[in-house]
Amino acid sequence: MTRFLFILLALTVFSLTSSNAAIYKGQRIFIKKCLKCHKEGQNFIANYKMKKWKRLMKKKGKLLAEIHLDNEKAKKSWKYFKSKRYAKKSRHLKQFLIEYAKDSGNVPACN
Ligand code: HEC
Repeated sequence: MTRFLFILLALTVFSLTSSNAAIYKGQRIFIKKCLKCHKEGQNFIANYKMKKWKRLMKKKGKLLAEIHLDNEKAKKSWKYFKSKRYAKKSRHLKQFLIEYAKDSGNVPACN
């Protein structure tokens, strides 16, 4: 858990200094909306390659939403994935996810 918090902190610092607003916004969405179920956080994002995230987040995140809406275990996320807010902000989330995908080469630095 401490390690994870550390990564989160590193991520935040990175986002702030990189002044990349979209990625920062995407990160906030991820922390608020995804982390409660996908507790591995950063490692979870790095499970997938950029291409996979791009595919999942195409057409305003349609596929990602469908995966969750088809899964009873993800019931608590249904309201969010059906919301207009999800579709509207999905491009920020997409940028964030791609930024930290397995093959992006962007591992938050520890300095
Ligand atoms: C209420 C819990 C919940 C929330 C919130 C949630 N997920 Fe999931 N997610 C799941 C479950 C359950 C699965 C299916 C996992 C399984 O079957 O092993 C899943 C699967 C996935 C997968 C795997 C798809 C695949 O094809 O392998 C990805 C990627 C994913 N979620 C990303 C996200 C992202 C990004 C968010 C935030 C926008 C999010 N999830 C929010 C519960 C959730």
